[in-house]
Amino acid sequence: MNTGILQKELHTKWIGRQTLAFHEIDSTNDEAFRRAGNGAEEGLLVMADFQTKGKGRKGRSWDSVSGGNIAMSILLRPDISPSAAPRLTLVMALACAEGIKEASGILTGIKWPNDIVVKGKKICGILTEMKVCGADPPEIVIGVGINVNTEGFPEEIRDRAASLFLESGKKQSCERVMASILERFEKYYAVFLKTGTLAELKDNYDQACVNNGRRVCVMDPKGQYEAEAVGINEKGELLIIRDDGSMDSVYAGEVSVRGIYGYA
Ligand code: BTN
Repeated sequence: MNTGILQKELHTKWIGRQTLAFHEIDSTNDEAFRRAGNGAEEGLLVMADFQTKGKGRKGRSWDSVSGGNIAMSILLRPDISPSAAPRLTLVMALACAEGIKEASGILTGIKWPNDIVVKGKKICGILTEMKVCGADPPEIVIGVGINVNTEGFPEEIRDRAASLFLESGKKQSCERVMASILERFEKYYAVFLKTGTLAELKDNYDQACVNNGRRVCVMDPKGQYEAEAVGINEKGELLIIRDDGSMDSVYAGEVSVRGIYGYA
């Protein structure tokens, strides 16, 4: 990653005003929290060519190939209730889908709530973590991992993983992709903060969401069932219509939704 090129490409007001670039680090999310503890400003951007302990959602690891891919985290201190923080993941998902399209021309979709997919394969993952300390605004770190120039994946994940290179057949600029995403995120974050909800962003999100109008399998702890996804509400929950015609909303923390055809 070339910070000089990034600074030229990046036209944000405050995100990335302080940028830390590492060749190798344990996790960019962890580094952002360490810096937050030392008083780093909101908007701190941490990026790395390689993470030795990259973290994924649900306690999984996020493995990255060294060089040519994106591993970045930003630090936020929004004045919102901690219960609204997971919604920022959807804001970032929207920024990623649109930013990737602008920078690379590749059309991706969002698999609710926050995986970016292309032709049913995952190309980008987002991990939002939060620390709450008393009545202070929560410290939030949003980490984004994007398979940009990966030339091939191990056989066990080949049917589920994609990269911008494999989709387009040409090398892509990580700096351009990052800049497009961060510019959009900065804009959408301001919109989000007006209400602490996705009220003004949900139409854009719904357009990008690949689950809409499709059957999904809801993994409810009380028993899994199928339904049709029809969009999100302002809290970022997925709205579904059950086979008996009743409408319900499902929350990402409580259930995981899997499409019944392929990964999406
Ligand atoms: C997922 O499981 O889909 C989320 C993956 C998030 C990976 C990114 S890479 C940059 C940041 N640092 C981490 O340790 N994880 C996130």
